[in-house]
Amino acid sequence: MSAGLFGLPAGFRLRELELLSILGGGKRSLVYKAYDHALNRHVAVKEFLPVDHVRRDLAHVEARQEQRESFERGLARFISEARIMTRFNHPVLRGAFSLIQENGTAYIVMPYYDGTTLREMTNNGFRAKNMEDIFSFLLPILSGLSYLYNAGYGHYCISPDNILVREDGTPVLLDFGAVGELGQSAEECLLTELIPGFAAPEQYGHGETCLGVWTDIYAFSAVAYHMVTGLAPPPAVSRIAHDALKPLASLASPGLPSALLEVFERGLAIEAKARPRDIVSFANALQEAAYRAISQSARPESARILAADAAVSAFSPRIRRILQFAWNLREKIHPGART
Ligand SMILES: Nc1ncnc2c1ncn2[C@@H]1O[C@H](COP(=O)(O)OP(=O)(O)O)[C@@H](O)[C@H]1O
Ligand SMILES: [Mg+2]
Repeated sequence: MSAGLFGLPAGFRLRELELLSILGGGKRSLVYKAYDHALNRHVAVKEFLPVDHVRRDLAHVEARQEQRESFERGLARFISEARIMTRFNHPVLRGAFSLIQENGTAYIVMPYYDGTTLREMTNNGFRAKNMEDIFSFLLPILSGLSYLYNAGYGHYCISPDNILVREDGTPVLLDFGAVGELGQSAEECLLTELIPGFAAPEQYGHGETCLGVWTDIYAFSAVAYHMVTGLAPPPAVSRIAHDALKPLASLASPGLPSALLEVFERGLAIEAKARPRDIVSFANALQEAAYRAISQSARPESARILAADAAVSAFSPRIRRILQFAWNLREKIHPGART
């Protein structure tokens, strides 16, 4: 992406960091790839830069007169994003290294990942065609989310732009710009940028007044919808007026069992109360769908073997991998429990 007039140039020094290029960004911030000359490693640096609200004089950022108050509010939120991020240490959800307050604004320094966003992947033709595509990708994210929920926070901005797929295929969840406590008032969303198609109806003020796991389950299911179809679901606001969500089964590859697609459709329910309320019920629903699909496609006696949770080696490598995903899913989220 281009820096426009706003991005800092390659070679710019921010203390021990040398900025190399622009990785991405939106209306609120820019993300640079940088080299840390003190620790000899690449890092990513996110600069608070609400383009509509500021002037930039060389490096220095200054809020426009009439936007000063909202700039200060946004900056405070950005700093709290960094502080919350430092608490995380999970393969899918890495914390921030440090916060630099300089040039009239602030910078979050974080690990740099070589990879492609899920949005770029689907733009380049990627589609999830079978359960393995879905589980190998979504299971680690679910595990990262359950880590976040244990810490008492929701992500509230899950989208294909905020999921980076590393070269080894493992996903990373980025962008804590909207992170907030579980159960926080939906009104606080007004301060954050909502991503149409992925933001839940309650984030636009419809129905449920609190944000929670159900809000992320909506976005997560929308990401699954996107992986399967290459499309975003219609924006929540238009769905509230007239729901034109196309059934997944009509758009999905035949390799995806309808029971699994139905779980994502339930996750995309307009009313928050109709979605799974917590991550364990959501994971259970996914696991059940996987079991059901496998036992239907396997030999009749294998359903019994599956139920007994044994003799996995009797199955084909593909079914074994899916079973393993289903078990891992359950184990990671609810250690020790098996159905
Ligand atoms: N740690 C990182 N490593 C590599 N690329 C990153 C990293 N963080 C962000 N990016 C890239 O920058 C883009 C914008 O980052 P993000 O944190 O989502 O900012 P914004 O709040 O502006 O959306 C991402 O979509 C991704 O392409
Ligand atoms: Mg983003």
